[in-house]
Amino acid sequence: MGPGVIFRGHLPDDIADALARAGARLDAFTDLSWHDEVGSTNDLAMAAATSGAREGLVIAANAQSSGRGRLGRSWASPPDAGLYVSVVLHPSRDALSLITIAAGVAVAEGIEAASGLRAGVKWPNDVYAGTRKLAGILAEAGASAFGEHVVLGFGINLQPAALPPEVAERATSIESELGRRVDRGLVLAECLAALASRYEALQHQRGYEVLAAWRSRAAQHLGKAVEWDEGDGLRRGIAHDIDTTGALLIRVDNRIVRVISGEVRWVS
Ligand code: BTN
Repeated sequence: MGPGVIFRGHLPDDIADALARAGARLDAFTDLSWHDEVGSTNDLAMAAATSGAREGLVIAANAQSSGRGRLGRSWASPPDAGLYVSVVLHPSRDALSLITIAAGVAVAEGIEAASGLRAGVKWPNDVYAGTRKLAGILAEAGASAFGEHVVLGFGINLQPAALPPEVAERATSIESELGRRVDRGLVLAECLAALASRYEALQHQRGYEVLAAWRSRAAQHLGKAVEWDEGDGLRRGIAHDIDTTGALLIRVDNRIVRVISGEVRWVS
C-alpha cells in the first residue's frame, strides 16, 4: 500500500501478505480496513465519505449481513466464499460517466491476473466467466460538505457457496471454474491495482483506453439479442456497442437506441 496507508482492524495474513507484495501498485489507496462481517461495505464507505474520508479509502469484508446489489437487489455475501470491497473515490466530472465501466474492466483484469481465469464483462459492469456471473459492481454517488464522492463496491465470488436458488443457477465462482484454490489476497490486491490504473486513465482523459478494454472483454455479449423495459412496454434489439459516456447502444431495426441505466436482459 501507499507510504501513508493506515490499516484498521486485524488483517488476515494472506490479505496482508498479498497487499504488501503489490507494493507501489497500490499507492493510490490511503487507508484499508478489514472486517470479519459488516452490514454492507458500501454503507460503511458511504458513511466515511460523507464524514470527509479521503479518496482511496478501502473497506473490505469476509461477509456481509445486508450486502446490496444493483436495482435494489440483495447481494448474497456468505463468509469465506467471496470478497466484498468498497472504495471511496472523488472523480472529476469527466471521469464520472465511465466509472462503473472502468470498475468492471478492472475487476475482470484483477481476477484474471490473480488466477488466470478469463473474465468477461457484460453491460454495464457485471463480470462473467462464460455464461455465469462471477462478480458484480455497485457504484453509488453522494455529496457532503466535503464535496462529491463515489463509492465503488465490488463483490467477487471466490468459492461455491449456498446461494439462493435464483442466484445459484446464474452464478459461478473463481474456484469452481478453475477447480482449485485461489489466493484471495492476490485477487484483492490485483483488483485494487487494476482499479487504480484504470481510474488514473479516466482522471487523465484517457477514457478511450477503458472503452477499448471493455469492448475486448465484452465481445461475447455484443451482437446478441437483448430486451429491456421502457415505460410503455418491452423493447427488443441487438446489443451493438457502448458510447463514450458508457451508455449501451442497441440496434433496433435500422435505428440505434441509447440505454443509460436500468436492466437489459440478454435473450440469446
Ligand atoms: C450487482 O451485481 O448487483 C452488484 C453487486 C455489488 C456487491 C458489492 S459487495 C461489496 C459492496 N457492498 C455491498 O453491499 N454491495 C457491494
